[in-house]
Amino acid sequence: MALMAGIAAAGPIVIKFSHVVAENTPKGLAANKFRDLVKERMGDKVVVEVYPSSQLFDDDKVLEAMMLGDVQMAAPSLSKFDRYTKSLQLFDLPFLFQDMGAVDRFQQSKEGQELLNSMRKKGFIGLGYIHNGLKQLSSSKPMRVPADAAGMKFRIMASNVLAAQFNAMKAIPLKKPFSEVFILLQTRAIDGQENTWSNIYSQKYFEVQPYITESNHGVLDYMVVTSTEFWNDLPDDIRTELKQILDEAIAYGNAIALEKDTEDKQKIIDSKRTQIITLTPEERTQWVEVMKPVWKQFEEEIGKDLIDAAYKANQAH
Ligand code: SIN
Repeated sequence: MALMAGIAAAGPIVIKFSHVVAENTPKGLAANKFRDLVKERMGDKVVVEVYPSSQLFDDDKVLEAMMLGDVQMAAPSLSKFDRYTKSLQLFDLPFLFQDMGAVDRFQQSKEGQELLNSMRKKGFIGLGYIHNGLKQLSSSKPMRVPADAAGMKFRIMASNVLAAQFNAMKAIPLKKPFSEVFILLQTRAIDGQENTWSNIYSQKYFEVQPYITESNHGVLDYMVVTSTEFWNDLPDDIRTELKQILDEAIAYGNAIALEKDTEDKQKIIDSKRTQIITLTPEERTQWVEVMKPVWKQFEEEIGKDLIDAAYKANQAH
């Protein structure tokens, strides 16, 4: 507390918020909204600096940087916490959530909220979830059934569940940071990747990937995290106000996530740079059958009760 009083006397508290996506994405817009609302309401006390597009740190470095106090907030995808907790691997299980409504219901449930605290012992606090959307598969060759992916190299986020998912397809998964994906695709060093419409559009993957299979096989969502030490050291009134503003900014980003998903998909279609492959129910069943055994592989690490709770969220109230 004495330290904080010193910081306040010396000037505003600075929060560096680092992320990897473009500004015109649900996460980019939520982070900017947070910065703007803090400026409007807490101007002389707190300043938020947003660093988009991996300008400050890539996702494979940002959590270490947070531990060192070089960055105070980030919102990595839920797939990128593998090293800190096994519970969040839940979100990578293929075909777990039918739609983003189910993802949201689960995140707001008791179990979903508890997951925000799953890394406390490792020094991180989850402050909320930001949505992006369901993932599609882009590639250099058309893929209608999982056998079409055999032998192809796919970039994945640093998640063992995602590695297992591509191994199940007899494809070759390569863990690479987000900032390298475009160039890897462009130079054909890899054959494909999985991502949301928003990222496929804003990162221009559709310009270098001639095919996108609309698989909706997994979810890409984020957890806003801060370091336990930084958060707990904040004066109580500042912490409370920041949390309220962050909740508002997250609600803003989440309200436009679905809209952006549809809008960016349409822009990709309109570009005519890539062919979108729509699966028949029979083809989709093949993807489910090949990928779903991954659940069993990770059931012990993640916890069956947690998987059941998440699956239940598919039933709308
Ligand atoms: C992100 O949306 O933050 C990045 C996702 C990825 O690494 O593919």
